[in-house]
Amino acid sequence: MSRLSSRLEAVVQLLQPCRTLADVGTDHGLVPVAAVLRTIAAHAIAADLREAPLRLARHNISRARVADRVTIVQGDGLRALEGRAVDAVTIAGVSGQLIVRLFDAAPHVLASVEQLVVQPNNDAPVVRAWARGHGWHLRDERMVEEGGRFFIVCAFAKGAGTDPAYAVDGWSTAPLESVGPLLLVRKDPIALRWCTAQRDRVHALVADGVTSLAHELAIWQAACDAMA
Ligand SMILES: C[S@@+](CC[C@H](N)C(=O)[O-])C[C@H]1O[C@@H](n2cnc3c(N)ncnc32)[C@H](O)[C@@H]1O
Repeated sequence: MSRLSSRLEAVVQLLQPCRTLADVGTDHGLVPVAAVLRTIAAHAIAADLREAPLRLARHNISRARVADRVTIVQGDGLRALEGRAVDAVTIAGVSGQLIVRLFDAAPHVLASVEQLVVQPNNDAPVVRAWARGHGWHLRDERMVEEGGRFFIVCAFAKGAGTDPAYAVDGWSTAPLESVGPLLLVRKDPIALRWCTAQRDRVHALVADGVTSLAHELAIWQAACDAMA
C-alpha cells in the first residue's frame, strides 16, 4: 500500500481500536484501508458522496486485498451510514463547517459512535465548539506540517459534563478553541510554529490599521508565549 501522507497518518494514528470505522468523504479510501491493515478497525466503510472518488477507493481497496473488510458506500455524509453499526468515524480534508453540518444531519447515526477523528482544513474552532456543545470531549489533537501547510487533527470521545481539556489556568474557552488546548499545554513545537505564523499574519494586519484584530493578536501572542 502507498505510504500515507503525514496528514492522513496523523488521522490513522489518533484512531483507537474499533469494530467498524466509517471514513466519510473518503475519496481514495486510504484511511479505511490503513485502519484494517493495521487492525485498528475490524471492518471499515469507505463512504463518499460521489462515484468518481469511490472508483479510486475501490482500486486501492482491491490493491491492498482488503475488499472483505472494507465496504464502499455512496451517499451524503453520515446519513449514508444509517442502519449500519458504526462505532468510529473519520472525516478529513474538508471544511470544519461541512464536518459540523454532516454531524448535525445525522444524530441517530452518531448515537452508536464512540470516537470521532476529524481533520478540518479550516474552522477547527467551529469543530471544537461543536464537540463541546454535543457531549464530545477532546481526547487528543495533533498538528502536522506538510507541503508548507499546517493541518490540525482532533480526536473526540463521548464524555459527560465539562470537557477537562479546557481547564487550562489563565485561559478561557474561546481562545482555547482557536489555539487547541492540548497543543497549548503540551507546548507542541509544530503548533508553536503555526501560532507564530498566525501572530505574524495578524500583527501585519493590525500594523496596517485593522485594529479590530487587536484582540485576536493578543491571543496568538499569548499562545506563542505559553508554548515557547
Ligand atoms: C478533498 S477530499 C478529501 C479526501 C480524504 N478524506 C482526504 O482527506 O484525503 C473531500 C471528499 O469529500 C467528499 N464529500 C464532499 N461532500 C460530501 C458529503 N456530503 N458526503 C460524503 N462525502 C462528501 C468529496 O466527494 C471528496 O471525495
